Amino acid sequence: MGKKTAPSSSNGSNKEPSNNKSSSSSLISMIINLVTVVYTSGFVSFRIVEIASLTALFPMQVLTSFVACIFMMKVAKVPWSLLAILSMAALVWITDDYILEPIPSSQQHMVVVITGANSGVGFETAKALAQNENPVTVIMGCRSVTKCQAAAETIRATTTSSSRDTNVIPLQLDLSSFESVHRFVDSVKVATFGLPVDVLFNNAGYVPFEKVETPNEYGLDPSFTSMHLSHHLLAELLVKQNPRLRLVATSSGTHHTCAMNTLLPKQLHNVVGLTNAPGCIDRSYLATNIYSATNDDKYIVAKMANVLHVSEFPRRHPSSTSIAIDLGWVGTSIQPWMSGQITPTSLGWMRSARVGIYPMLQAILQPFPQENRNWSQQGGVTIDTLGNIREPFSYPWWRGDASPETMKVVSKELWTKSTEILQQQGGCTVCQ
Ligand SMILES: NC(=O)c1ccc[n+]([C@@H]2O[C@H](COP(=O)([O-])OP(=O)(O)OC[C@H]3O[C@@H](n4cnc5c(N)ncnc54)[C@H](OP(=O)(O)O)[C@@H]3O)[C@@H](O)[C@H]2O)c1
Repeated sequence: MGKKTAPSSSNGSNKEPSNNKSSSSSLISMIINLVTVVYTSGFVSFRIVEIASLTALFPMQVLTSFVACIFMMKVAKVPWSLLAILSMAALVWITDDYILEPIPSSQQHMVVVITGANSGVGFETAKALAQNENPVTVIMGCRSVTKCQAAAETIRATTTSSSRDTNVIPLQLDLSSFESVHRFVDSVKVATFGLPVDVLFNNAGYVPFEKVETPNEYGLDPSFTSMHLSHHLLAELLVKQNPRLRLVATSSGTHHTCAMNTLLPKQLHNVVGLTNAPGCIDRSYLATNIYSATNDDKYIVAKMANVLHVSEFPRRHPSSTSIAIDLGWVGTSIQPWMSGQITPTSLGWMRSARVGIYPMLQAILQPFPQENRNWSQQGGVTIDTLGNIREPFSYPWWRGDASPETMKVVSKELWTKSTEILQQQGGCTVCQ
């Protein structure tokens, strides 16, 4: 009978370290893979708009890079985590540095009004304009005078001697009050010595998620009042003084979700938090919802209203031009988790405001001559996060009940309703 022999100590002592070694190296590679998966998921989620725009712009190049990555992984056995890191670095370089054209410089002295100019993209845009080569007057409209003055001081401290002719003027503007909008326009006139405003940048906004805001003193939804109605009023008061006004508005990629409510079955609307109306705004919305309290959907609705307003503006004011910015994620203080020490921006997932303002600068400074587009018939345009100019609602998902033609009707109906409210409650005698 064969006797079971215990493994010799020399065998055992030789095997254990190699087992330990291989299990610790597989643990390390598991940790690397896990960290890469988590990091890549965050990166893709926050850069999704840039990735989508890039794919739409350069489909062949994106496809070729994808195939090349598969080849390197399968044939050349390059670790996928290394490829993921290299791809993310390449994407940041392409979208944040390579693809963006140099910022155009203004040809002549401009007066630019920016709402919500004390922080985020409003502040960065004011700063970049002030640092621009050509002379410019930047009127910073902010809800808090103290914050506005501090922001203006910071900008003045950063302007160089070559941008000495720049004038940065902080003025109070609380968009929750129509009276404040009228006072602001009066102060602008005084501050510019009657010079007309060339560009109005309707930028201020906030995310009303999780906030309970009952209807305001006008009986209206507060978020719709601040983000759309007051901006509409401001534009009407300024275009009266300068029919060639350029209107620029910070909308958001979130407005595209308003096309989803035509693609998804009604039962799913509540699950994804969508307003049922096609394109988020319809007659029943205008008749009832704008008089209701703010809820989770209202940010998207307000951003949708910004695009509709821009789209309609030159049809009502034929000498004007208008551009809505379809902004992707940009690191600002708009949401608590976007500011602080460890943020999606500091992790490299999200664009910093300094880079993210490129489409704003393009919209403000690029000439867009009247002769190149029939603005009074075609209406305003949008600029995406990579600086591409597009017709509003021109992506393929705007179809059916939210087709471009339907959205043109919606923009007219929103205009009519906004005018009616502003005439009755906003003291607007020039609104029509
Ligand atoms: N950051 C993004 O990823 C992102 C993406 C898409 C669209 N956007 C849009 O970009 C715009 C700017 O936001 P941001 O990201 O730069 O955020 P932000 O840093 O929070 O700036 C928002 C600005 O709006 C002002 N504001 C809010 N309510 C106002 C009111 N009733 N009256 C006057 N000013 C008011 C704020 O003033 P206070 O400082 O007094 O609060 C602040 O100056 C918003 O319209 C937002 O919807 C941002």
